[in-house]
Amino acid sequence: MKTIFEKDKGVSGITLCDAPEYLDFIPDSLKRKSSVGLPNVSELEALRHYKELSDMNFCIEKGFYPLGSCTMKYNPKVSEMLASLEGFADLHPYSDDEDSQGALELMYKLQEALKKITGMDAVSLQPAAGAQGELTGMMIIKKYFEVKGENRNKVIIPDSAHGTNPASAHLCGFDIVSVKSNNRGQVDIETLKQLVDKDVAAIMMTNPNTLGLFEENVLEISKIMHENGSLLYYDGANFNAIMGYTNPKLMGFDVVHLNLHKTFATPHGGGGPGAGPVAVVEKLKDFLPAPVVDFDNHKYLRNYNIKHSIGQVKAFYGNFSVLVKAYAYILMMGQNLKEASENAVLNANYLKERLKSKFSLPYDEPCMHEFVLSGDKQKEEGSSTLHIAKALMDENIHPPTVYFPLIVHEALMIEPTESETKEMMDEFVKVMLKIADDIKADPEKVNSAPHKTPVKKVDETMAARHPDLKFVQQ
Ligand SMILES: Cc1ncc(COP(=O)(O)O)c(C=O)c1O
Repeated sequence: MKTIFEKDKGVSGITLCDAPEYLDFIPDSLKRKSSVGLPNVSELEALRHYKELSDMNFCIEKGFYPLGSCTMKYNPKVSEMLASLEGFADLHPYSDDEDSQGALELMYKLQEALKKITGMDAVSLQPAAGAQGELTGMMIIKKYFEVKGENRNKVIIPDSAHGTNPASAHLCGFDIVSVKSNNRGQVDIETLKQLVDKDVAAIMMTNPNTLGLFEENVLEISKIMHENGSLLYYDGANFNAIMGYTNPKLMGFDVVHLNLHKTFATPHGGGGPGAGPVAVVEKLKDFLPAPVVDFDNHKYLRNYNIKHSIGQVKAFYGNFSVLVKAYAYILMMGQNLKEASENAVLNANYLKERLKSKFSLPYDEPCMHEFVLSGDKQKEEGSSTLHIAKALMDENIHPPTVYFPLIVHEALMIEPTESETKEMMDEFVKVMLKIADDIKADPEKVNSAPHKTPVKKVDETMAARHPDLKFVQQ
C-alpha cells in the first residue's frame, strides 16, 4: 500500500486560511516561511486512505482473538459512551475538588467496589497498567520493611509467573529468587521452604498462574511466608478467572494489583491506556501512593495526608477514562461478575478438551480461564508453533500467545474469554484441527502462511530489531 505522501497529486481538498485579509492579521514573525509539507490529496482520497489503513488492522470486532494472558474480551460500547460524557471527558485535571465531585465520587465508589471484590482494605487507582501496579506494590513492600527497620532484599517468584513480576521486583532493588514448579504446574512447596529465610521480603504469585492453573497450596504458601515475617504479593491480572468465587484476602495475600483492562472489560490494545489499581491490607494502607480519594461524609476529596506514602506514581490520578469504563462494567454486571468468571473458565476447559486430541497438553489438569498447549508434536512433523500462529491469521483468527510461558516448549497459550459463543469456539477448533492435519500431510503448505494478510511473512528478527518505521520522501 502506498503512503499518503506517495498519493500526493498536487490537488488539495481543503485550503486553510488563504484569505489575504485574514493573513494580514497575523504578525509577520508568526507567518510560515515555507510549506508545511502536508500531502495534497482530496478529502475523499484522505478518507479512503485512512479507512484502508484501519482495515489492515486486526481487532476483536473483526474476529476471534484468543490471546492468552492478554484477555482480549468484548469491551461494551456503552462504557465508551459513558466515558465520553462531557462532565467526565472535559473535566480539567487541575480542577478543584469542589468542581470535581462527580469524578471523585466515581473514583471513590470504584475504590469501594474493588475493596469488596478483592477483600482488601484500601485501594489506589493511580497505576496506569498491570506492570506499574506491580512496581507500586513492590515499592510499598520495600518501604514497609524500611519503616519496620528490617533489611530484606529478596523476592521469591515462581517460574510460572508473568515476566513483568521479576522485572518489577528487580526495579525496586530486590534480588530475585526463582522457585520451580512441580510436574503438575504448581509451586513446589518443599523447594519453597528451602528458599525462605530472613532476607525474603515477599513472594510474588500469579493465581491462576500463567499455565492457567490454580495454585492449590496457596494457603500453605501464605502460612510459610507469614511465619517468616514475609509478605505475599498477588498478581491479580488473571482475576477474571476467580471473581466472586474467592479473593486474594481469603488466600492470605497482602498486596494485589488488578488489570482493569483485562478483568473489567476496558480496551486493551497497543499497550494501553490501561489501569492497574493496587489494593492492600490494613497494615499497608499508610504506604499507598498519594493522593487517594476519600469521603468526609459531606464531600469527596483527594487525600494527600498518607503517613508513609511512597509518593505519586502517575500524573494526576491515573487513566481516568479507563476507571469510568471499569466502574460502568462493574455496575452493569453486578452479581453477574461471578458468572463472567464461570463462563471464562468453562470456555477455556471446553477448548482444552476439544484440542488435546491433536496438540500436546503438557499440564493435563482442569484449567482456569486459559490453558497452554504445546506445538511440539507439530515441530517433530516439520512445522512449529510459529507456523501454526501464522496459519491461523489466514483464517481471520488472531494467533494465541506463543512461546510463553517459557516453561512450556513451543507454547500456545489460549484464552477464549467469557464473551465468545460456542459457535465461534467450535469454528476455532475446526480450524486448529485442520491445521494439525495439514501439517501431518504437508508441513510446507502450512509453513508458508500467511497468504491472505496485508503483510505476508516477515523476518521475525529483523522486524523486532530493525523495524522500518519512517517514511523518507524520495
Ligand atoms: C499475569 C499478568 N501479569 C501482569 C501483566 C502486565 O500487565 P500490563 O500489560 O497491563 O502491564 C499481564 C499482562 O497481560 C499479565 O497477564
